[in-house]
Amino acid sequence: MSLTIPKIIAHRGSPREAPENTLASFRQTKAAGATWVEFDVALTKDARPVIFHDDGLERTSNGQGLLAETDFEIVKHLDAGSWFGNQFAGEPIPTLEETLDLLAELGLGFNMELKTDPGREAELAKIALPLTRDLWPEALAVPLISSFSRVAVAAAREVAPDWPMDVIYDRIPPEWQRDAKTLNLAVIGANHKHLTREQVMEIRGAGLKVSSYTVNEIERATTLFQWGVDAIFTDVPGEMVRHFGY
Ligand code: G3P
Ligand code: MG
Repeated sequence: MSLTIPKIIAHRGSPREAPENTLASFRQTKAAGATWVEFDVALTKDARPVIFHDDGLERTSNGQGLLAETDFEIVKHLDAGSWFGNQFAGEPIPTLEETLDLLAELGLGFNMELKTDPGREAELAKIALPLTRDLWPEALAVPLISSFSRVAVAAAREVAPDWPMDVIYDRIPPEWQRDAKTLNLAVIGANHKHLTREQVMEIRGAGLKVSSYTVNEIERATTLFQWGVDAIFTDVPGEMVRHFGY
């Protein structure tokens, strides 16, 4: 399926205005005028896909220990909002199902990043991808599926042969072309701190799109777009959309 991505993708929602990776953050993204969000999906101990970035629960919730070692029955009662501000007290860690329902209701497109523990890549892909296929209306924008883990993207590829996918790198390695071919990638993702104009030209020349994270300065975004970067992930989607449009 062909992929259309906007220039501006809201990183974990709008994490400067609402707690990251929560429904409140996604609602704020819509209010800020962005059209796509990026979120992180990971498995609880009992294999429920929830929206969460870190391995540990402490930074962005009132839980303790590892998400991957905590059952959903506990995760669903955690408070993922109070750490950010009292007005978000009680904001839960959303399930993948709740998130897809809200994004469809808001009309926001999305990039789902697979956050996997080593050894659980196929498990996550086999749970998250079919669920997403079932719940996401075909009439809405085709999502982008990504991961830092090639193993996770390979597992996702088996489950969703025709969906656009993306491996994210810190520094783009020499073997990116092999990954692009083997995994049939639509996009190469890269840390903007290490990305070069030459790499952008090479990737686009090979027929792929380039995304870059996490870009919070207008000046840097301007440079990246001049190089030909297709999309940036940003913590300040409202500011970026006001400056660059979608
Ligand atoms: O996909 C871009 C970005 O989300 C990757 O880094 O750690 O914020 O998930 P991280
Ligand atoms: Mg992410």
